Amino acid sequence: MENLNETLKSVAQILLDPQDNYGEIKNAVDRLYELLTKVADLDENSRESHDDIFLPSGKAIGPLWAAMCLKEFMRTRRFVQGLNEAIKQAKKTFPGKTIHILYAGTGPFATLILPLTTVYTSNDIKCTLLEINLESIKSLNKIINAFGIESYIYEIVQCDAAAYKAQRPIHIAVAEVMQNALKKEPQVAVTINLAPQLEKGGIFIPEEVNVNAALLKSTAAIEEKSMLPIGEIFNLNRDTTRERAETKILLDIPQGAALDHKWVYLLTEIKVFDRYYLGYNQCSLTLPYKLCSLDKLDISPKNVCLQYIMDDKPRFSYEFG
Ligand SMILES: C[S@@+](CC[C@H](N)C(=O)[O-])C[C@H]1O[C@@H](n2cnc3c(N)ncnc32)[C@H](O)[C@@H]1O
Repeated sequence: MENLNETLKSVAQILLDPQDNYGEIKNAVDRLYELLTKVADLDENSRESHDDIFLPSGKAIGPLWAAMCLKEFMRTRRFVQGLNEAIKQAKKTFPGKTIHILYAGTGPFATLILPLTTVYTSNDIKCTLLEINLESIKSLNKIINAFGIESYIYEIVQCDAAAYKAQRPIHIAVAEVMQNALKKEPQVAVTINLAPQLEKGGIFIPEEVNVNAALLKSTAAIEEKSMLPIGEIFNLNRDTTRERAETKILLDIPQGAALDHKWVYLLTEIKVFDRYYLGYNQCSLTLPYKLCSLDKLDISPKNVCLQYIMDDKPRFSYEFG
């Protein structure tokens, strides 16, 4: 097998390169995926590798699907860049301290932190890794052994990150347990649980997730110029509380708009950290989400009331008025 740490280092450099060289980034993450799948001994055909786990706060996707997130190259790149920037900032905020990173939902590869072990020493950063899926944890242990990065890890905890209570001060918390429009997966519940546990001056990644509603003429061309934005419905950040998350939002629908703008879409944007963003369509997490059509309504709606529902199937509910 090729030299693991050399390959990881070269992929890390490509991920962190300020130039968006898409072909090179895609090849790099594909190469890393092949390598990590072998090292983690991930069986693409076993039932365990496919099985999702259903938590009270949403779905935790199975090991194979979690592994494949790596291949979403713009997502992976922006999160790794953002986390790298956050570490730099945390080193300034907490001088002389080993930066403690709480990583919620690592999947089998701990994809977002693994490349950064080639950039920082285990004196600079140490991690607590949270994951609910035991199969993913088994793979994760193989990865940690193979790359010889045991000294970077305080512990791996099999738990629901939406209920975890930290054992030591956290400087950075990172979680990517989400889909577009914050549906199905527990990003909101995990953020609401972990962000208040950060040290003062600590950083939560992603820093913000914004969801906006817009009317569209058709489902074919989802372009900014053909959208009629009707308002922001959610801004998830470290100050979000459950009460705020579940507040109903009433948005006006401009008179006559429903005549030719028949589709209601939810648009997700992610501020990973500082200047690192994922805009509409840049990855699956920010794909425009078709909420409903205005076609079959008896009334011509004047407004729509949207509410985020935090249960085992997180989602936006809607009612027209
Ligand atoms: C979308 S994958 C992301 C994997 C990896 N962090 C990455 O970014 O490539 C989410 C992972 O988080 C885990 N997960 C989801 N919700 C969780 C929760 N509430 N507590 C612990 N683990 C969770 C899933 O089992 C899955 O492995």
